[in-house]
Amino acid sequence: MLRNTDLSWGAPAKLLHWAVAALVLAQIALGWAAVSWRLSPTKLDLFVWHKSTGMLILVLMVVRVAWRSANVAPSLPADMRSLERRTAHASHLLLYLLLLLMPMTGWIVNSAANIPFRMFWLIPIPAIVEPDKATADLAARVHFVLFVVLSLLVAVHIGAALRHHFLKRNEVLVRMLPGTGSAK
Ligand code: HEM
Ligand code: HEM
Repeated sequence: MLRNTDLSWGAPAKLLHWAVAALVLAQIALGWAAVSWRLSPTKLDLFVWHKSTGMLILVLMVVRVAWRSANVAPSLPADMRSLERRTAHASHLLLYLLLLLMPMTGWIVNSAANIPFRMFWLIPIPAIVEPDKATADLAARVHFVLFVVLSLLVAVHIGAALRHHFLKRNEVLVRMLPGTGSAK
């Protein structure tokens, strides 16, 4: 099934969820490695990997937002209280926002620092702001703060998914897993 139904996620939504989740985890490791590596050609390569993966996440997130807006989303379990529902929706909205803002602020850092780069050494990425050291420093600080918020939220998100599965024993995790049908 391609489209989401009221009961489960369709294949594109699942693919986008797990691809972005894997890329974000790799991206955090790459970001840390790039920042902490001693100055060397490897450091520069790590930065190209980090920036390229980040731009790929941005592209996938734009596709994901479009697909999500064109589809219904499965309903949350009926026994969830109103506050819990609202928290789940708000945290998902915030995750979407962070996954768009993280690449955007990274792109601003790179543009303001006036560093030309090609995504995966192939596609030239234009600057989106004028070169300016103060802008680069501010955007780098925001990029870091957003990363901290994203990490905390992802930890809570994973905890919530496991709680649904192991404690509340509902379908929330299973319906996001590959290979589970959406006609159930
Ligand atoms: C979801 C996407 C992204 C995530 C999760 C992410 C995460 C990180 C992390 C964990 C760091 C190291 C901690 C820090 O100093 O901030 C970092 C640094 C950095 N990232 Fe990203 N990043 C993303 C996208 C991007 C993109 C698209 C670019 C550029 C096109 C980029 C450029 C940078 C730069 C230049 C730094 C070094 C900042 C500094 O000098 O302090 N990032 N990022
Ligand atoms: C960096 C890692 C991750 C990110 C950024 C992320 C992001 C998201 C977002 C934004 C949604 C909302 C989907 C929507 O309403 O359109 C979602 C749903 C979901 N995520 Fe994740 N996720 C990550 C990792 C994980 C992991 C590791 C698990 C499992 C342990 C998981 C389980 C789920 C489940 C079960 C849903 C569906 C909730 C529902 O059916 O209402 N996620 N995720």
